[in-house]
Amino acid sequence: MTTKSLNKVLVVDFGSQTTQLIVRRVREIGIYCEIVSYKDLYLNIKKNKPQAIILSGGPASSFEKKSPKLEQNVLQMNIPILGICYGMQIICQTLGGRVQNSTKREFGKAEIKILEKNLLFKGIDFSKNRKSQVWMSHGDEVVKLPKGFLKLAKTKDNNMAAIGNFKKNIYGLQFHPEVIHTIAGKNIIENFLLKISGIKANWRIENFLSGKIIEIKNKVGKEKVICGLSGGVDSSVVAALLSKAIGKNLICIFVNHGFLRKEEEKEVIINFKQYMKSKLVYVNASKVFYSKLKNIIDPEKKRKIIGKEFIKVFEKEAKKIKNAKFLAQGTLYPDVIESKKIEGSNSKAIKSHHNVGGLPKRLNLSLIEPLRDLFKDEVRKVGKELGLPKSIIQRHPFPGPGLAIRIPGNITKKKIQILQKADKIYIDELINNNLYNKIWQAFCVLLPVKSVGVMGDRRSYELTISVRAITSNDGMTADIFYFKEEFFKKLSGRIIGEVKGVNRVLYDITSKPPATIEWE
Ligand code: XMP
Repeated sequence: MTTKSLNKVLVVDFGSQTTQLIVRRVREIGIYCEIVSYKDLYLNIKKNKPQAIILSGGPASSFEKKSPKLEQNVLQMNIPILGICYGMQIICQTLGGRVQNSTKREFGKAEIKILEKNLLFKGIDFSKNRKSQVWMSHGDEVVKLPKGFLKLAKTKDNNMAAIGNFKKNIYGLQFHPEVIHTIAGKNIIENFLLKISGIKANWRIENFLSGKIIEIKNKVGKEKVICGLSGGVDSSVVAALLSKAIGKNLICIFVNHGFLRKEEEKEVIINFKQYMKSKLVYVNASKVFYSKLKNIIDPEKKRKIIGKEFIKVFEKEAKKIKNAKFLAQGTLYPDVIESKKIEGSNSKAIKSHHNVGGLPKRLNLSLIEPLRDLFKDEVRKVGKELGLPKSIIQRHPFPGPGLAIRIPGNITKKKIQILQKADKIYIDELINNNLYNKIWQAFCVLLPVKSVGVMGDRRSYELTISVRAITSNDGMTADIFYFKEEFFKKLSGRIIGEVKGVNRVLYDITSKPPATIEWE
């Protein structure tokens, strides 16, 4: 079953911060779901034939001239529709109701009271377990309902909390069911999809996988596919999936730039041999990278040099592979959404991320992106389904430029070795203490700062390691992780005792923002 033949829900994005969360909730229920723009929605619906539509919230005011609009004919297609916040307001505005600025804006937790028995709230006992608690975030309110609509629920202040037109199966919620603070939020979305829209939940990772394998086989035929392997979750899952689909016609290229973690290249090669039935080209290009980075201190220069050099090495190897037609990449759904949002935006780039986006054109290859419909945790499920070990699936993210951006200042081979040793001790301690999977990302940074210490009655004057551990959902924002005192004691003792050249260990207590996760 491919994503084309699945029951499908479209989430129409009106610019809410939580649009992705709606998609997550729908997929958790077992229904395939995609984000689409509010522009040309009618045509998009005709093409995609969704079983239901959810309209997201958004920052605009529906009654303003320049606000995102909803095409009237979308509301006459006999497809169940749920509007959330702005989504509800734009339904009302489009159908002749009235929306205006609230005299009292609502942000945060609120309680709702049900006024009419209805399918949206079926089976939810709002008198129990704080279930009536919802999350509001709006400045406008519906003051007059369109014809055929009923007020289904209200807030304590008598504001409209939910509306519905039972005949047309069009519903609206002033609150956000997709956020966890709306206690019965998932039940409400489930009722809309299963009870009101009558959709069968048939989105399972196993179905996705078998469908994808057939799709890839058909697309590739007897041609060859090149895939860049890094050892990270995404590229490993892409390689395993393609290996299962096309076996020997997949050729992976693994470039070692010299900034990998301790013994990582060995691990990647061993794993590849054990879990894939395809060919691996391993290139150790560390000498070139070290020499190009000699005396380079500026973080952006480091990143640019590594990116450029990586493409050069990869291109050289790829050109040696005869009859290659495709390049496989581990693009994920958030990357797809992000790249669409960024188009034409004025947002400033903070860092030039290591990416190989320009490669397919230069190599004259067509792209295969088998994970572009998936979120990271879904990719992990695919990896598990493919039989990849936990050590790959649960791996923390690792930046393309590797340890080179974890050594502020000049990079030397000796410094890389020091950092590799400290990092290995840190990660081992996390695993031994059952902490690795509670943390989103953890790593050491080697600072170009020497300080005085005393070890065994002798004076030392050595470098500093900074330890970082963060929790996050997507790397866009991050909080620091709080270790127990015992862990700190053991870790600093081990790093200083076992890593020559380091006599001080610091803990980085900065969240993102204001800091970024990596130091450079
Ligand atoms: P920052 O430092 O921007 O990092 O807060 C956010 C996440 O992205 C990872 N990162 C990278 N990943 N290529 C990558 O593939 C890169 O150039 C790169 N730089 C940062 C970082 O490790 C964190 O998970």
